[in-house]
Amino acid sequence: MQRICIIGGGYVGLTYAAGLALKGFHVDIVDIRDPACDAINRGECPIDEPGLHEAIKNSVDGGMIAASPSIDDVFAGCTLFLVCVGTYCDEAGNIDLSQVRAVATGLQRCLAASTGGTFRTVCVKSTVICGTTDGVVQPLLEASGKLAGKDFGLAMSPEFLKEGSALDDIMNPDKIVIGGIDQRSIDAVRSVLGCFAAGTDRDGIVIETDLRTAELIKYAQNAFLATKISFVNEISRFAEMFGVNVGEVARAMGMDARISPLFLNAGPGFGGSCFPKDVRALLTAGRKAGHDSMLLDAVLAVNEAQKAHVVELLAARRAIAGMSIAILGLSFKANTGDTRESVSRTVIPELVRAGAARVKVHDPSCLARQEISEDLGSQGPVEVHDDVHACIAGTDACLVLTEWPAYKGLGAGAFSAMAPGAIVVDARRILDKASFAWSPIELVVLGESHDRSFRPG
Ligand code: UGA
Repeated sequence: MQRICIIGGGYVGLTYAAGLALKGFHVDIVDIRDPACDAINRGECPIDEPGLHEAIKNSVDGGMIAASPSIDDVFAGCTLFLVCVGTYCDEAGNIDLSQVRAVATGLQRCLAASTGGTFRTVCVKSTVICGTTDGVVQPLLEASGKLAGKDFGLAMSPEFLKEGSALDDIMNPDKIVIGGIDQRSIDAVRSVLGCFAAGTDRDGIVIETDLRTAELIKYAQNAFLATKISFVNEISRFAEMFGVNVGEVARAMGMDARISPLFLNAGPGFGGSCFPKDVRALLTAGRKAGHDSMLLDAVLAVNEAQKAHVVELLAARRAIAGMSIAILGLSFKANTGDTRESVSRTVIPELVRAGAARVKVHDPSCLARQEISEDLGSQGPVEVHDDVHACIAGTDACLVLTEWPAYKGLGAGAFSAMAPGAIVVDARRILDKASFAWSPIELVVLGESHDRSFRPG
């Protein structure tokens, strides 16, 4: 079986390594971090994803996956190179391509030294803005003296993994997009990644295209989903003002096949390492190219406003100064410990600024608690709790920010240890609303209101 080289042993790289090893490919992971390689070679997986720990452990033990800090160690034995390094994006939307450049430079050195007739293909999987593969990676590789399309193949295949179901998303993809400089490059990638489409009537899910189209598909998809969330959050603001439940509106809209019910849950705004970064990057690249996207600008503005709105829902009913407040949910979504760009990172400092006396925070994920403790724990009154009941006890207000299964369906009883006159703000719309009907605790659900005082005209 062919040997595949995956460059970058992070979230995407490790998940692809596991998926390909499960399909019978030998995988060499290259990561410049020595300790990360040592950990992988011991069968350890630093990422908390369902099924990933076992898959990595079994594949390492079975000799299917090995890690090395240098591309030079493995280049000769591999024919396909999947570039899975990070492409961070600053506040202004500028993508940091330093890791992509460093990888291309390493491959350039190897290509220059290579002799013989082995045709190797480099495939970018990192999320990169249009023009990166042909405009940045290709010139670096060709500085080896070898030509793309003649001496080596060049492709771009975006990933569509969701945190919490990444391995399953690889093993059962909706689609596999392969952009190539030519058909030979596409075929080289298809012969490997096509394994995830193999089987009855699944071959049709492979989309063959050019490099730039593949790059834009990734951004277009994430920007669309982010737009859908900002749209429903905008509708939820109307719902609150008109005395309507946004959940009923979204449910009815979602029954139209052209709309679909997915990604139509109103909430405290999208977070994570992908949507905010990718929308910013596309917006900024568009501006550089001469197009100022009013729509994407609005998607981000609505998202920021929605995070602020969570605090407003509380501030409109109680004075925050001097309050003891519980936060349930620190991660950007359920079933992950990732707190990057999570709403908790905006809401907690805002409550502290508004004069909250105590901000007691909880998350079922130990990793999320640790990240927030390290980053916000020094902010005066922030206390991290590993027990949800201890977190809620004695507080004047509680904000539910993440839709963890452990919080879903919690009724008024779960909040009975709050202080007299307490208020709960359900920003994820997951609590058992009916149970609050006879409770002294006030429940405010984002996207809902019973105030029907609005009159048009
Ligand atoms: C997202 C995409 O869904 C993946 O397809 C893509 O591959 C990935 O980014 C990436 O670019 O690597 P992910 O960031 O793991 O995946 O998370 P999502 O499940 O998409 O959720 C993103 C945010 O939107 C979360 O904060 C979530 O709470 C929020 N969201 C999602 C809502 O507020 N409402 C919804 O209806 C759905």
